[in-house]
Amino acid sequence: MNKDLRQAVIAGNWKMNKTRPEAKALIEELKPLAANAGCGVVICVPFTNLETALALTEGTNIGVGAQNCHFAKSGAYTGEISADMLAEMGVEYVVLGHSERRQYFGETDETVNLRTKAALEAGLKPIVCVGELLWEREANITEEVLAKQVKLDFAGISADDLKKTIIAYEPVWAIGTGKTATADQAEEACLFIRNVLASLYGTDTAEAVTIQYGGSMNAANAQELLSKTNVDGGLIGGASLKAPDFATIINAATNG
Ligand code: PGA
Repeated sequence: MNKDLRQAVIAGNWKMNKTRPEAKALIEELKPLAANAGCGVVICVPFTNLETALALTEGTNIGVGAQNCHFAKSGAYTGEISADMLAEMGVEYVVLGHSERRQYFGETDETVNLRTKAALEAGLKPIVCVGELLWEREANITEEVLAKQVKLDFAGISADDLKKTIIAYEPVWAIGTGKTATADQAEEACLFIRNVLASLYGTDTAEAVTIQYGGSMNAANAQELLSKTNVDGGLIGGASLKAPDFATIINAATNG
């Protein structure tokens, strides 16, 4: 396993936070702090902030992502946004299958798969989230759960498209709870996911895929998590809402 074969990416998942003026202030504060990053930097903002984020990050090293997209190209899907609509704006990334979408909005592996295909077809880079629930970890079925999610979420997706995709390993029990997976637990799960990818796509492809850890990653614990061979960056919720904390995590990935 060789960390140098792939790019570490630190992505902020703002979730349902920040009005436009608040988003502007946060991005302005972040820009100079992130300017010398030695890793990819992305902010995944609410739909209402996409235009602001795109304008403010133009010409910088900060990429912009959305937090979901629909799988249909267009049509009678009230309240939804298509991958083409995002791509046309200049959006580069989209978070898909986040556990909050799975838990509160009926997202399934089947719809995550359809959304991932739609995003790739539109030229977006999906950040696809997988991860086990607390009871699944306690029942010792974490690997079974992750293998099933990876197989179903990427069913029918080519090796070339997989390489454009980021996978975020997010143990659901660690999201927003302040309970971080230990660095060893994160490494073990990310390595397991990479091995599943290797069995499906071959080692070269598996080695090229960026696999992030997400779940209460913060300024204090990032360095240890990001130093692990198979942890290629992070998907950051709460700590991405504070520019200095997010910048500390970016620096940890740069050094990791
Ligand atoms: P958290 O969220 O960092 O606040 O735990 C991570 C995520 O949901 O992507």
